Parts: sequence; structure tokens; C-alpha cells
Amino acid sequence: MLHLGWFVGRGYSVHAWNQPWSGSIGSDWASGELLTDLARAMDRACFDYLMIEDGSFVTDAYRGSSEWHLRNAATVPKLDPMPLIPLLGHATSRLGLVPTITTGFYPPYLAARLAVTLDHLTGGRVGLNLVTAHNDRTAQNFGLDRHYEHDLRYEMADEWIEVVNRLWESWEPGAVVADPESGAFADNRKVHPIEFEGRYYRSRGPLNAPAGPQGRPVICQAGGSPAGIAFAAKHADTIVARARGIDGAKAYRSEVIARMIECGRDPKRCKVMFCTGIVLGETMQEAHDKKERLDRAMAENLEPRLAQLSFLSGIDFSRFDLDAPLPDIQTNASRSLTTLYTSGTGARTLREALSDPASGGVDFVGTPDSVAADMGEAIAEIGGDGLMITEGLTRRTIGEITDGLAPALQRRRLMRSRYNHALFRDNLLEF
Ligand SMILES: Cc1cc2nc3c(=O)[nH]c(=O)nc-3n(C[C@H](O)[C@H](O)[C@H](O)COP(=O)(O)O)c2cc1C
Repeated sequence: MLHLGWFVGRGYSVHAWNQPWSGSIGSDWASGELLTDLARAMDRACFDYLMIEDGSFVTDAYRGSSEWHLRNAATVPKLDPMPLIPLLGHATSRLGLVPTITTGFYPPYLAARLAVTLDHLTGGRVGLNLVTAHNDRTAQNFGLDRHYEHDLRYEMADEWIEVVNRLWESWEPGAVVADPESGAFADNRKVHPIEFEGRYYRSRGPLNAPAGPQGRPVICQAGGSPAGIAFAAKHADTIVARARGIDGAKAYRSEVIARMIECGRDPKRCKVMFCTGIVLGETMQEAHDKKERLDRAMAENLEPRLAQLSFLSGIDFSRFDLDAPLPDIQTNASRSLTTLYTSGTGARTLREALSDPASGGVDFVGTPDSVAADMGEAIAEIGGDGLMITEGLTRRTIGEITDGLAPALQRRRLMRSRYNHALFRDNLLEF
């Protein structure tokens, strides 16, 4: 069995703008209906979790302006995914819901309280995708001149999660008695200040709310640099990884396992999910034709990739000569993704790297049934644990994946066809 999730990489935003099958997204994107439809379909198909990207800045790296991104609704606008979670929870029964939150700019007390609130509201189905935020522009929105140095951000995140964990534990189990006989709601002997005094954070505690059904919401992490993997190995219940092909995924997973063992953790307690690019057709021919068409369109217009790299790295990629030897790129922003997308497979120039038809993940092309079979083999070869759908979000892709691919996986007993537990973590760690 493999785990399956869906990463909405553009966040709570305008999806597939100027693309076919995007319906009336220009006028109804903010209603949250598309994400609700996605969540409902995933719940019906018994996915593990829905993860929603987020960030708090308007990029102006590409060509020194935000024009391209605003014009193409790429990474902006972006609404806060947190208030959407109770709506998604209400529309679903067992699906895990994982919004992104930044350790860099969310004070631990507010984050701990927000997560506990969401865990109560969803009946124990919330997770947090912890990111350190990757850009100076974000930092400037929160009062800094520049963002903290890359590895220092993870050092701070390490302390941040310690405070948050302590706040979640500040109400002992059994602190809420809610006893109408005695009239006592909570037992003050079981609610404790945490008196946390760290290098970067201080918090007195206790939290002004008891932990939710999961106690500690599921922790998800996606940073792929050595510091990011070390952080994830220590704290995460699930890791979302961008690893190139099956060999890249195997190496990533081995690294995570080694780091987890070093931290004294059982590797089975964290599920590694590999981002996947999927092209589906009703026949093999149709799928391969579609893939060829998509690859050709991408190679003919590299601008979206140049803009995306500028967004991720904070460096203006329009200024590089596409046909010169690959530039040496150093960034304090999203380091591992910038390296992944500029390295290509044996690419010598930026054009070659950006025209690489691979998605930078573990890719599949075929019919729902052939892709299901290939996915089973890929995960067996990697050694576990699951795959993260990253398709552009339209009602067509929702249908293809949840009503086409998922049933094919279930027929092959590669995916659960019913949830056995009420809580997200219990479903995630079941196998
Ligand atoms: C699948 C995936 C999803 C991510 N989602 C987000 C996100 O929502 N917001 C964000 O700021 N960074 C996101 N990132 C970036 C990282 O989590 C990380 O904060 C950043 O890349 C810097 O760390 P790194 O150099 O260790 O990768 C994502 C990365 C991956 C691979």
C-alpha cells in the first residue's frame, strides 16, 4: 500500500489562469469552492492528506517587477489558507488537512493556539506544513531588512517547535473534567505555565486552550537542504520531498532514515511522500501524445520557469544568457529547489536545465491502470512511503486523479479504500 496526498502548490489562489478547464476561476477563485471540491473528492477516494502551499509576499524578482506574476496570477493573489481549513473539515470526514505556516514569522503562542483550534474544529484532522519562509520580501513584510541566514532559520525553527510542543502539552491529559455534578470544568493542578526562555523565543504559557483530539497536530515538512532534512528527521510525521526520479527518491529516503535513527526515532513514524508529475490518457497513445505536447509547449516558452525560479531564489533569472554555461547560483532563499531546477539531468546550459521534461519528481505517463501499476512498482523500489500529486488544479484534474487513478490503485490494493481511524495521524501511521 502506498500513501497518497495532493499538494496544492499555488496555495489558496487563482488556479490554472489562462489554461483550459479552469471554469470561471477568474471570478470565483476566492470563494474556496474549488478547494472544497478537491477536498471532498479526495475524502471520497480515501487520500491521506491535502496540503496547501502558502507565503506572504508579492515577488518582484523577475525582471525587477511584479508585473509578470500579477498579470499571470502566478503566486499572487494568495489568500490565507487557515480560515479555509474548518470549511474543508466540514465538507469532509477523514481526510487530513495540512495548511502551510511559517515558523519565521508566526509567533509560537499564536501558532500553537491556532493549530489547537483547528484540530478541535476538524475533529483531529489537522497538520501543519512548517516552512521557514524563504525570501527577503517576506522578511520585509514583518519588519526585517533581510531574512535570516538559511541555516539559522532552521535553528530558530527548532526552538520554535519546542515552544509550540510545550504549549500543546501545557494542559495535561485529564485537565478538562467538565463535570456537571461538581460544577468543575477544568482542574487547575493540571494546567501549567511553561516558562520557556530560549535563545530566540520566550513564552510563559500555559496555552489558554486544551490540546485537540490529536494532542499534537501532524507535523509536515518539505525543506530539502541538509538543514531542512535534519529538522524534518527530528520533528516531522510526514515529509514532502522533491526528488529526481526513483534513484533520487531512494537516496532522499535513505538520508531521512539515517537522520531519524541518529535522532533516536523509529523511521516508520514518518511517512516520506514524493512529489509526482502524472500525465493520464484513456489510451497509452493519448497519454504519450499529451506528454509530448506539454513538453514541447514548455520548451518553446521558458518564461514561466524563469519566473518561478526568480520567485524561489529571489534572483532575477531574466538576466542570464540561456545558452551560456550554467551560472553558479547562490541563494539565501529556497536553496534546494533552486538547485534542483537549475541542475537538470546533465544539463550544461540554463536552457537545457529548464527544458528538462522531467518535473523534478517521480513521473508517470499512461492510462489510470498502467500508472497505478507503475506507481506500485516505483514505491516498492524506493522502499516507501507515498506520492504527492502536484497537478495543476482544475475540476478536470480532480476528476482524473480521484475518480480515475485512485480507483485503479484501489483495485490493485495499492491504496486504502476505506479509512480505519478517525484521527489523521492514526490513518497516516497505520501502514
Ligand atoms: C513540496 C514542497 C512544498 C513546499 N511548500 C512551501 C510553502 O508552502 N511555502 C514556503 O514558503 N516554502 C515551501 N517549500 C519550501 C521549503 O519548505 C523550504 O522552506 C524552502 O525550500 C527552504 O528550505 P530548503 O532550502 O531546506 O529547501 C516547499 C518545498 C517543497 C519541496
